[in-house]
Amino acid sequence: MTTKIIVGNLKMNLITLSERDGYLKLLKSEIKKLKNDGSWELILCVPFVHLDFFSKNLKGKNIYLGVQNIFWDERGSFTGEISPVMARECGAKYSIVGHSERRRYFKENDQEVNKKIKVAIQSQITPIMCIGETSDERKEGLTKDVISRQLLDGLEGILPLQSEKIIIAYEPVWSVGSDIEPESNEIMEVRILVRKLLTQKYGEAVAGKVKVLYGGSVKSKLIKKVCFNPQMDGVLVGRESLVPVNLIEIVQSFSQC
Ligand code: PGA
Repeated sequence: MTTKIIVGNLKMNLITLSERDGYLKLLKSEIKKLKNDGSWELILCVPFVHLDFFSKNLKGKNIYLGVQNIFWDERGSFTGEISPVMARECGAKYSIVGHSERRRYFKENDQEVNKKIKVAIQSQITPIMCIGETSDERKEGLTKDVISRQLLDGLEGILPLQSEKIIIAYEPVWSVGSDIEPESNEIMEVRILVRKLLTQKYGEAVAGKVKVLYGGSVKSKLIKKVCFNPQMDGVLVGRESLVPVNLIEIVQSFSQC
């Protein structure tokens, strides 16, 4: 049985302690409805300040915590930044890296993403590397060029054994937060391209081990589009992950396809 990965990205939400507590309570009761048969793995990427709390209060087989970003060094004079080691020590096993919102609002580039991937691996954090084209790039027919550049620059200097540990999330920027979804064949084309580039760089055996997810306006209704033809290994869920019942419905429908 293949295990599908469902990543929830809570972004900058659950802004009060009571929102946080209410969310956890609902999530726990929804999780109880799931059959824990190894068909799914849930990774909840929480705001840093809630990490320790979730780590103490949300436990379960195949449930992991992640953060939404890390800094590209482990320690030092970097005011306001969070070290991957800090995240790990507080319970994170994963970190989203290079999310389109970070690329857009904080001007993160492929070289920074690359440094973050390297430090994550060094700190025993599994990076979930986001790649995806903007709407203008798509209109100009640049999707493949952008995906290739982001993937290869992001993985520059990463050895085959290290690359197996990385999760790639294809998130078309125009679909994140927009309710506009790509067609199955568009998702599949990117999946094929990613596989091809990974095979050229690392060989088939290694490339076959790298998980590729889809993200962007994911709802349980969309699962068929992502799952059947494109055969993605999982999904990255933004807004819907804020509603525990919806998140768990996505876990359920994805693990069944
Ligand atoms: P969305 O966000 O599901 O709200 O479109 C996706 C994401 O965070 O990448």
